[in-house]
Amino acid sequence: MRRVVAILVTLAPPLAHAGPMTYLVSHGAAANPITKLGWGLLGLSIFVASFIALAVLIGIWWKRGAGDYDERGWPVLSRGRNGMPWLFIGMPISIVLLLLSAIWTFYVLGATVAPPGHPKITIEVIGHQWWWEVRYSEFGYPRRSFDTANEIHIPVGVPVELHLTSADVIHSFWVPQLAGKTDTIPGQVNHAWLEADQPGVYRGQCAEFCGLQHAHMALYVVAQPQRAFNAWWAHQLQPAADQVTGLAGQGENVFRTRCAICHTARGLVGSSGKLGPDLTHLMSRRTIAAGTLPNTPGNLAAWVSDAPAQKPGVDMPAEDLSGPQLQALLAYLKTLK
Ligand code: CUA
Repeated sequence: MRRVVAILVTLAPPLAHAGPMTYLVSHGAAANPITKLGWGLLGLSIFVASFIALAVLIGIWWKRGAGDYDERGWPVLSRGRNGMPWLFIGMPISIVLLLLSAIWTFYVLGATVAPPGHPKITIEVIGHQWWWEVRYSEFGYPRRSFDTANEIHIPVGVPVELHLTSADVIHSFWVPQLAGKTDTIPGQVNHAWLEADQPGVYRGQCAEFCGLQHAHMALYVVAQPQRAFNAWWAHQLQPAADQVTGLAGQGENVFRTRCAICHTARGLVGSSGKLGPDLTHLMSRRTIAAGTLPNTPGNLAAWVSDAPAQKPGVDMPAEDLSGPQLQALLAYLKTLK
C-alpha cells in the first residue's frame, strides 16, 4: 500500500507555480482583494505624490519673482496673497481620496474575513521560535490525525480554515499569495482561511518580529489537486519505517538516544518528543530548519551536527556526533520518507 501511495505521489502533475514569495501577484480568493487594494493604493499614492510635486514646481515657476537670486544663489520667490483658496480646493480633494481609500479597505476586510463556502479542512498551525508546527485532523476520526512541520499541503480550489496559535511569543502567519497576515498569539486561537486557485508551492514567512531567527521562520504551502492531496494525507498517516537494519538500524539507535527526547518519529518506540518538529516524514519536505535550507543530504548533515552554526540562537544544540554516528543517523533519517 505504501508503495502504491509513493507511486501516486510521484505521478502527481508537476506543480504549475513555484516562484519566490511576493505580494504583488495573488492566487486565491482570500488574497485577491488584498492584492487589488495594494495596487490601487500604490497607484493612488503615486498619483497624489506626482500631483503635489508638479503643483510645487508650477508654484515655484509662477512665483519666481523678478529673477532675483539670494546670496546662496537660490531664486527669490515673491509672496502672493491669493494662496489660501488653493488650500480650500486641495483639502476636500484629499478628504475624498482618503475616505474612498478607507471605504475600499473596509470592503476588502469584509470580503476576506470569512471564506465564500464552508471550509472542508481545518489545519491547526502553532508558531514556535522559530518553526511552524502543523496539525491535521479530521473531526471525529482520531486515527486520521497527524503532525508535520513547516510545510502545509492543501487541495486546490478548496477553502481551508486555519486555527492559529503560538507556543511562546507572538508570531504572524503570512503567505501573501494566498491570504493576509494573521498573528499567532499564545493562549489564544485566531481564525484565518486561505484558498489556492492553482496548484503550486507558495512561500510564507513569519511577519512579526519574534527573536533572533525571525527571518528564518519560513514555511511552504503546497497546493495540489484533490487526489494528490488525498494520497499525501494517506502517506503522512503512515508511521515511520519499522525494522530498519544495517547502517540505518544503527542510526535508529543514535536517533533514539540523541534526537528522540525532542523529536517524534511516529511508530518508533521511545520517540515522542514534542519540543522540535515531528520528523516522521522528514524526507517528504522540501526544506529543513523552517525553510532555511533545502532538504539535501549535505544540509541535513550540517544541520544535525551543528544546528546553531546554521541558525544562531536555535534551541537545537550542536550534537557531538562521531563520523560513524553521523553517517548512521543520516542513513536512518533517509528512511523517514
Ligand atoms: Cu516568528 Cu517572527
